[in-house]
Amino acid sequence: MEVVVGAQWGDEGKGKVVDFYCEGADYVVRFNGGNNAGHTLKFKDQEFKFHILPSGIIRKEVHAVIGNGVVIDPEVLLGELAYLRSKGIQQFTLSISDRAHVILPYHLLLDGLEETAKGGMKAGTTGRGIGPTYSDKVARFGITMGDLLDGTLLKKKIDISLMIKQKLFTAYGREETFFRRKIIDTYLDMGQKLKKYIRNTSVLLNRAIEDGRRIVLEGAQGTLLDPDHGTYPFVTSSNAVAGAASVGSGIGPRCIDWVVGVTKAYTTRVGEGPFPTELDDAVGERIRKVGAEFGTTTGRPRRCGWLDMVALRHACEVNGLDALALTKLDVLGGLKKVKVCTAYEAGGLKLREFPSNIRILAAAKPVYKELEGWMEYSLDDWSRIALKGRGALPLAARNYIDYITENLGCPVELVSLGPSREATIDLRAELRRGEEGDDGPQ
Ligand code: GDP
Ligand code: IMO
Ligand code: MG
Repeated sequence: MEVVVGAQWGDEGKGKVVDFYCEGADYVVRFNGGNNAGHTLKFKDQEFKFHILPSGIIRKEVHAVIGNGVVIDPEVLLGELAYLRSKGIQQFTLSISDRAHVILPYHLLLDGLEETAKGGMKAGTTGRGIGPTYSDKVARFGITMGDLLDGTLLKKKIDISLMIKQKLFTAYGREETFFRRKIIDTYLDMGQKLKKYIRNTSVLLNRAIEDGRRIVLEGAQGTLLDPDHGTYPFVTSSNAVAGAASVGSGIGPRCIDWVVGVTKAYTTRVGEGPFPTELDDAVGERIRKVGAEFGTTTGRPRRCGWLDMVALRHACEVNGLDALALTKLDVLGGLKKVKVCTAYEAGGLKLREFPSNIRILAAAKPVYKELEGWMEYSLDDWSRIALKGRGALPLAARNYIDYITENLGCPVELVSLGPSREATIDLRAELRRGEEGDDGPQ
């Protein structure tokens, strides 16, 4: 069983990589986050953008699962199912965990109020109510998808939640009133619309494991947005590291036998918070333009910078990465020189480990190693190169991949050279051959 996680600050190309890995898979499972995620995948002339549905859902033989670790805005989910059908995908199999928590209108409002209250310390959230929904889950005020099928329980829980939220809004100086009856009716109605998908997905997945099925677990966000291992408090509110795949899907950690970290050939970040290799110059602007670095969810321009090996080393460790999927190598094409950050300088010290203190991280100056750049090609040319395999890559690009592999001690098993499925070099067979019977994936 494979887990695919983001190794940076999100938007690494997980959607594309998950779709690619879903070839021959039986299940694809989202295990964290909510519709703060935006996962794009492309094949032939079709493009799909998913926020809450797992990326493998477009393959009709793959059963898509939204696990218990996800937070769900039912209205957004219903909208995304309509979107899927409008794109010609009528046949799909979907299961939604009855334990997944529900995003309610008061969570959206609170998201904005909390951000405003934080002022300069705001995270620049996506405004989708993610933080307040996970807060309610941990504080034991949350509403689950299963509750939407049980009117008696829903009414009891909504009464408690509304009473507390109303007090909060008053404290924030807001007059909003959420009408109990309206919320209950609306959410019971959406529950009925989604009823056929809602079930115990942990049981479903454990039976699938017993039957030897192949499962791909799809992470949202990225390691540096993880509340435990990222740039806290400039993070999201659910764990985005590989360990969360077990908790967020209800399967034992020993079922996971391969962990892939997705990284761009450079770094991006959307939202607030420290970013040591950020480029505020023409190169940063060029990367944003060529890489179309604008958020899938909010449309915000993504901050762009060089590849950060200190951060990636941290991602290798906290996720226990077996391999990397390197995306957007094409975007750096045309630059004479490319840089990678190998260490930070902070307070007169050279740091090789990713600091937990954000003031130190914000003040850290990257130490760069300069490498040769490679040619710029059109996306069609990159697809042709991908078809021919690794040997067809420009020498400098191959050296760049080798440098990353050696520096991190983690092999690159997938190289992505464009948004579409076809523009991908798959090195898994070569790499994993040596792992079979050892700890290679099932
Ligand atoms: P995710 O959140 O990790 O799934 O990533 P997003 O979908 O938010 O952002 C990645 C963007 O890069 C999407 O628009 C993809 O279509 C695109 N993309 C993925 N891989 C590549 C690649 O190798 N090259 C280029 N040029 N674009 C890519
Ligand atoms: P995918 O899955 C990039 C960022 C937001 C903000 C912080 C907290 O597409 O990689 P939240 O709304 O989660 O409370 O916002 O996290 N963020 C993402 N950045 N990609 C994502 O998802 C993100 N999901 C959240 O910009 O800084
Ligand atoms: Mg994204």
